[in-house]
Amino acid sequence: MHTTTRSGVYGTPPAELAEAPGGATQFSPLIPGAAKLEEQPEGSFSDLLVLAPPGTVERRYTIALALRALAPGGALTILAPKDKGGSRIAKELKTFGCTVSETSRRHYRICTCERPSLLTGVDEALAEGGPRFDDGLGLWTWPGVFSWNRLDPGSVLLEQNLPPLKGRGADFGCGIGVLARTILASSTVEHLAMLDIDRRALEMAARNIVDPRAETRWADIRSGSGLTGLNFVVMNPPFHDGGAEDQSLGQSFIRRAAESLRPGGVLWLVANRHLPYEGVLKPMFRRVTLKVEAGGYKIYEAMK
Ligand SMILES: C[S@@+](CC[C@H](N)C(=O)[O-])C[C@H]1O[C@@H](n2cnc3c(N)ncnc32)[C@H](O)[C@@H]1O
Repeated sequence: MHTTTRSGVYGTPPAELAEAPGGATQFSPLIPGAAKLEEQPEGSFSDLLVLAPPGTVERRYTIALALRALAPGGALTILAPKDKGGSRIAKELKTFGCTVSETSRRHYRICTCERPSLLTGVDEALAEGGPRFDDGLGLWTWPGVFSWNRLDPGSVLLEQNLPPLKGRGADFGCGIGVLARTILASSTVEHLAMLDIDRRALEMAARNIVDPRAETRWADIRSGSGLTGLNFVVMNPPFHDGGAEDQSLGQSFIRRAAESLRPGGVLWLVANRHLPYEGVLKPMFRRVTLKVEAGGYKIYEAMK
């Protein structure tokens, strides 16, 4: 039996379905400041509550990390909406050697189990879901981060159309560093702050962008970039939050870019053509130019 009494939580499960004990350590890589589940010593937690991520490889990896971090006999509660991987959790837990109880509430599947003394398949799931170098991308990537195994067509279009930039700037929502690579190809760029809410993406970006002018920052851009007086901001803003389309996310990115730029500074933005960002840009910028429209995307240059 375990003797530890440490609790942990991964993500923010709906409180009416499962509540983390007060003082539980947060482990979600999408919550700036959270601890790293992959760095916890084996067997160091008595109970973990996990809102399972939707991607299969990422979810199996997260379950494997959680089981490894639990002491034998420790309690795992893991849940997800049925149509976002929830209906597969019980089966996945069984492959690791767990005996599972499952309930269903409010479109969620909620599974509970004890960490068995003998785990199976954990090393394979950790190897499959951890950081990896992708030969096709020519970049380090991590299953679960944005567009982890293919280049986003919007980012590719922006890369192809971005002029050489100058001075100090930022890459908002930098992901694994696809756009940063292009931005830093210009020798007139003096400094580039790379911001993202996903700690795993930033860790990969730091491996991919080895350049003394670049700096990574783990931040939720909605609460401010912490930057001012910039010459440029580049972004392919997110428009999904937790799987649902959320235009306010992109609008917030644009507002934060306008605040971070100096007069005369420029924002380069790519977005799906259907997203109504022009109306958000116009009141905040002196000049807004549609530079490219192709393949379902629009690229804007907006001058502060
Ligand atoms: C469309 S992706 C672009 C990624 C990268 N720039 C590229 O072109 O491949 C948007 C990025 O924004 C990040 N993101 C989402 N919400 C965020 C927020 N509130 N604050 C900071 N970054 C966020 C995501 O993790 C993701 O990496």
